[in-house]
Amino acid sequence: MKTGELFDLGGKVAIVSGGYGLYGKHISTGLCEAGASVVIASRNVEKCAELADELNARGYDAVGMKLDLGSVESINGFVADVLEKYGRIDVLVNNAVIRQGMADLEDVSAEGWNFAANINSTGLMQISKQVVKSMKERKSGCIINISSIQGAVGPNFEVYGSTGMSSPVNYTYDKWGMIGLTKWMANYYGKYNIRVNCISPGGYNPDAFADESKREFVDNYLRLTPLQRFADDDDIKGPIVFLASQAAKYVTGHNLMVDGGWTNW
Ligand SMILES: NC(=O)c1ccc[n+]([C@@H]2O[C@H](COP(=O)([O-])OP(=O)(O)OC[C@H]3O[C@@H](n4cnc5c(N)ncnc54)[C@H](OP(=O)(O)O)[C@@H]3O)[C@@H](O)[C@H]2O)c1
Repeated sequence: MKTGELFDLGGKVAIVSGGYGLYGKHISTGLCEAGASVVIASRNVEKCAELADELNARGYDAVGMKLDLGSVESINGFVADVLEKYGRIDVLVNNAVIRQGMADLEDVSAEGWNFAANINSTGLMQISKQVVKSMKERKSGCIINISSIQGAVGPNFEVYGSTGMSSPVNYTYDKWGMIGLTKWMANYYGKYNIRVNCISPGGYNPDAFADESKREFVDNYLRLTPLQRFADDDDIKGPIVFLASQAAKYVTGHNLMVDGGWTNW
């Protein structure tokens, strides 16, 4: 295959959970721009549909659909609806995250922990299980989990300085778990021609990082990032399209750091 063909996602159907969020929007857009039909899915279906409308107006193929990863019933119904509409799922991007219920260890409650885990862990398991079943039947598919720098190394609390910011204990726990799940699924489903990979991005939140109250954090973070900047709107697109496409057909179980070098030290 020629190089351009290897990266072409024409005819592929991709799901992006949390597909209108900060990173989600660029993941959905990147997959569309590479030719895929993209299902943008989360609880707020109006926001998902709004982004789908924008993409469709630009000539791409996207749809917004409701998905609540906190409900097994919603997940099962959603996967069934996607299969009914498209007849196949080629790519699942597990991008959604809930931060509600997260805190430092001595502040986190069992209720908060369980609330977040029900979405970030149980929901992740349930949607992966439902989607992989259909991929197994077709002996083809690709799952990409979105972890974080906080899943690849422990948080460096010094970067937060006196801003009052922190990195919650359950976020690190959930994000490390995603990398483990990636390895497990890659090894188990390789024989079905299903590839499972992970992307661990660095910080991306242009509006929040422009807030003067976060200046100390921003300065510390950038000083410790070899490329000396936060992620921009495009940084997630290339890695996503690469892993979703035939360009990565011999890549599975990998955790790709997309962090400007934050974890190099
Ligand atoms: N932004 C960063 O700096 C950064 C850095 C490293 C890694 N990451 C990772 O990148 C991914 C996206 O993060 P983000 O910052 O872009 O997130 P975000 O903007 O906060 O968006 C989170 C998305 O998850 C969806 N979601 C939350 N609960 C859900 C549920 N119960 N069911 C279905 N969808 C649900 C939300 O949509 P609804 O509210 O409509 O459900 C929203 O679209 C996450 O996995 C995160 O850990 C982010």
